[in-house]
Amino acid sequence: MVRLIKGVIKKIIDENYKVKSFFIETDIRLESYPGQYVMIWYPGSEEIPISIADESGTVVRLLIAKAGATTEYIHLKARIGDYVRLRGPLGKGFTLVEDGRVACVAGGYGVAPLFYLTKRLAEKGVRVHFFLGAKCKEELLLLDELSTFCERIVVSTEDGSYGYRGVITECFDEYLKREKYDIVYTCGPELMMYKVILLCCERGIRSEASLERYIRCGIGLCGSCVLDPIGLRVCCEGPVIDGNILLKTDFGKYKRDECLRRVSISGVSRS
Ligand SMILES: Cc1cc2nc3c(=O)[nH]c(=O)nc-3n(C[C@H](O)[C@H](O)[C@H](O)COP(=O)(O)OP(=O)(O)OC[C@H]3O[C@@H](n4cnc5c(N)ncnc54)[C@H](O)[C@@H]3O)c2cc1C
Ligand code: FES
Repeated sequence: MVRLIKGVIKKIIDENYKVKSFFIETDIRLESYPGQYVMIWYPGSEEIPISIADESGTVVRLLIAKAGATTEYIHLKARIGDYVRLRGPLGKGFTLVEDGRVACVAGGYGVAPLFYLTKRLAEKGVRVHFFLGAKCKEELLLLDELSTFCERIVVSTEDGSYGYRGVITECFDEYLKREKYDIVYTCGPELMMYKVILLCCERGIRSEASLERYIRCGIGLCGSCVLDPIGLRVCCEGPVIDGNILLKTDFGKYKRDECLRRVSISGVSRS
């Protein structure tokens, strides 16, 4: 059942020059799972899909990055006390393991659903190694908050301004040579996730990725989010999908744009 939920913006944090956290008080509890998303509608703009970055009581947190017209409008106009409408929670989230060793690999605002996941795993006593990558120090998101509940955080920046210099998949590859993980979760730019999944498959490690596809209806009706050639609908059978299944699709190679044209993934960024 799809729920329409009324919300009021209670707090806004400027995470960096292009990402803000919005804390939204809802009239009823969302009761979401990490990896699920909501369609958010702010008056005067379009409805867009955003991952749930946290839920605590009746307050839900969303990290919104400026990407185009709608997200820029929200950044510019949204104020504390403003009303929003949320549709959801939607989609299938991450598998919440009860024990074992876990790694999360995040890039850009892909940290949002993994932050929520890590918090829930830490509550169960599961030890998480978190690999966080960004272009530069300023673009690293939620680092201080993550350090309160991760066993280890490995950070990389492409310009070397913080942590290892280079991309996070290189660090992750190094760690895989000496650490054993039971499951790996990833969210971020598609090419990063593709590399993470290949590394996991080579070693027989279970993996899950949270995908971004063009989401219109969010309930499996319009077909805009379909993964070729097996026809998985990212909006309801995802956005979190098992790595072994993803390797049977055009994940990491092509996606469909808003006109349903197939476009190459290269150069597509989630940061
Ligand atoms: C499951 C899911 C979770 C997401 N989580 C987050 C998040 O936590 N934080 C965040 O900042 N962004 C998230 N996004 C991306 C966010 O939905 C887009 O950045 C936003 O819709 C862009 O809208 P725009 O009008 O500002 O930009 P536009 O100029 O319209 O587009 C900018 C980019 O966003 C893509 N986009 C636009 N509309 C949609 C749509 N309806 N569905 C998917 N992609 C779209 C475009 O293809 C383009 O690549 C998520 C997307 C999906 C599918
Ligand atoms: S967004 Fe309509 S089927 Fe997935």
